[in-house]
Amino acid sequence: MNRSVIKDLLKSTEYESKVLVKGWVRTKRGNNTVAFVALNDGSIIHNLQIVIDVPSFDAELLRRINTGACIGVKGSLVESKGQGQKVEVIADTVELYGEADPEVYPLQKKGHSFEFLREIAHLRVRTNTFGAVFRIRHAMAFAIHKYFNDMGYFYLHAPIITASDAEGAGEMFRVSTLDPDNLPLTEDKKVDYSKDFFGKATNLTVSGQLEGELAALALGGVYTFGPTFRAENSNTPRHLAEFWMIEPEVAFNDINDNMNLAEDFLKYLINYALENCLDDLEFLNSMVDKELIERLKFVVNNKFIRMSYEGAIEILLASGHKFEFPVSWGLDLQAEHERYLVEKHFKCPVILTDYPREIKAFYMKQNDDKRTVRAMDVLFPRIGEIIGGSQREENFDKLLARIRELGMPEKELWWYLDTRRYGTVTHSGFGLGFERLLLFVTGMANIRDVIPFPRTPKNAEF
Ligand code: 4AD
Ligand code: MG
Repeated sequence: MNRSVIKDLLKSTEYESKVLVKGWVRTKRGNNTVAFVALNDGSIIHNLQIVIDVPSFDAELLRRINTGACIGVKGSLVESKGQGQKVEVIADTVELYGEADPEVYPLQKKGHSFEFLREIAHLRVRTNTFGAVFRIRHAMAFAIHKYFNDMGYFYLHAPIITASDAEGAGEMFRVSTLDPDNLPLTEDKKVDYSKDFFGKATNLTVSGQLEGELAALALGGVYTFGPTFRAENSNTPRHLAEFWMIEPEVAFNDINDNMNLAEDFLKYLINYALENCLDDLEFLNSMVDKELIERLKFVVNNKFIRMSYEGAIEILLASGHKFEFPVSWGLDLQAEHERYLVEKHFKCPVILTDYPREIKAFYMKQNDDKRTVRAMDVLFPRIGEIIGGSQREENFDKLLARIRELGMPEKELWWYLDTRRYGTVTHSGFGLGFERLLLFVTGMANIRDVIPFPRTPKNAEF
């Protein structure tokens, strides 16, 4: 007999048919005549009720079936007389695959804090909340590929090991096979990376953008979707050292096309979640964040505000609000400023453009005013920056001048500069932080709770 998944059985009307289900026991209750097991197999947030006629089963077997145990049940699917479910399974046989000793099983009780569950990240996916979060994570990944595939964009696999620093922020994890206790040195006593595996210093990528640009200037529209790494020592609820980023890059798009794409993309993803993950969203709405679904619908149904960085600074200055980081033109906006604009002032997602060049990366298109660049950040309620992007500097001379001005290793970027030497054109792109999107869609408060095994400073246990 083939195993049925609970998601299908809960919708089934094939009453009296024989079924086989396998899953983990969420709860067991009952008395000497009948026992009820709530079984979950991960396919859906809801449990299937298994009804066990206690006298016809081995008492020792039933004693060992506790919360967390894995069992297989053969029986009849019937219409349920009880409340809370439409169908249930009357067990003919029960097979115990794996016990979970109630004396020591960490999830024996319900209602653990998310902080505690982080310490048992290997088990937390067995809880309702994390089951919902990781099913939504999957759905969002799928929707991202679907969106771009339907647009005719190509999925580009950017390298994970690279010799360049795409963001120029220097917050990189070194990749090396050199022996740290016995480093080869050059004559001037620096580490001799020519002896390293790749013959040069390499690191984990902070962004796939530069490679995305190379491909966009050949394939038209591309996107990357992969892990990125930042060795920034930010212990905040919105930063990870290893996170996933989606980076579309599109030839012929200017900053306005880029904003339109970002807004359409985010709305598509949130709408996809509302249409395809409603069971999980309803659970999270009731248990984690009472305004979640309302907020998601609001974002889908309202136009994002668009304004310049300069305009935002004026609003912040006029607000009279006391910020931890004082506001003035040139300030790199912090989450507190971004959230003030989105949550207090506009009460709506905001796209800010034309940031000061000094606080943005070298590749952004320089505006004629010589002090701003054609950057765009999308700011979301509860999150702050969810997307960062820009129109790119396509002019060879201007790009080279900026690289030199910043003292970047111009020789190492020869391949990037080649795109501006040969067949250059207007192009734009952005990066969406996948876990920031998930924070928004799930209503979870801490970014460590939307990635299976978070990597943060001093934490790489699982
Ligand atoms: O703004 P960022 O640094 O932009 C880039 O990396 C560009 N190369 C993107 C592009 O234009 N192709 O990062 C993009 C997004 C941020 O808006 C944020 O959502 C997320 O990536 N992000 C992080 N998410 C989690 N933890 C971190 N440490 C993050 N740093 C950035
Ligand atoms: Mg940014």
